[in-house]
Amino acid sequence: MNKKIAVLVGSLRKDSFNLKVANIFKQIAPQSLSLDIIEIGDLPFYNEDIDTDTPPKSYDRFRQEIANCNGVIFVTPEYNRGLPAVIKNALDVGSRPYGKSVWSKKPAAVISVSQGAIGGFGANHQLRQSLVFLDMPTLQQPEAYIGNINNAFDENGNMNEKTKEFLSIIINSYAHWVEKLS
Ligand code: FNR
Repeated sequence: MNKKIAVLVGSLRKDSFNLKVANIFKQIAPQSLSLDIIEIGDLPFYNEDIDTDTPPKSYDRFRQEIANCNGVIFVTPEYNRGLPAVIKNALDVGSRPYGKSVWSKKPAAVISVSQGAIGGFGANHQLRQSLVFLDMPTLQQPEAYIGNINNAFDENGNMNEKTKEFLSIIINSYAHWVEKLS
């Protein structure tokens, strides 16, 4: 059976390289996985005062979408050597109400994508720290720090084969990881 995989993208901008990488994952994923990019830009900053019996509709929608999936892929830029606020906020929203986290046991993968040479290492590992606490078994190898992403596309917007091959290795390794944990 196809596994439903939620893809969270840590950049909200229209021409985001992270979004481009997420869309390529969708195209090249093996048949065992069905990837959907989940909206996180409309989630109000987490605040227990608004997370009442009638929380914001976007909180309900987001929690339901994560609860319905079999795994989560994070594709994220690095902001100031850390993870972007939108990703952290999404983690916080999904972790509450207390005792009802939608993250527990969902197999995860973290791919950091940056125009810089270090490939978002800081964001990648800061995110992994939260995933340990949220009890999400996270793919360890191959590590995915994708640097200089602006050089990976030609003038027509097509990704070069070398980078695409690397993405293919990552998504296939993740498919095995999901299978193993099912
Ligand atoms: C950045 N960028 C960045 N890059 C990096 O490798 N390490 C960093 O710490 C930062 N810090 C940072 C902070 C802020 C506020 C912004 C807006 C950007 C650059 C970043 O990698 C680049 O803008 C990417 O293109 C962002 O990803 P998207 O939007 O293309 O997906």
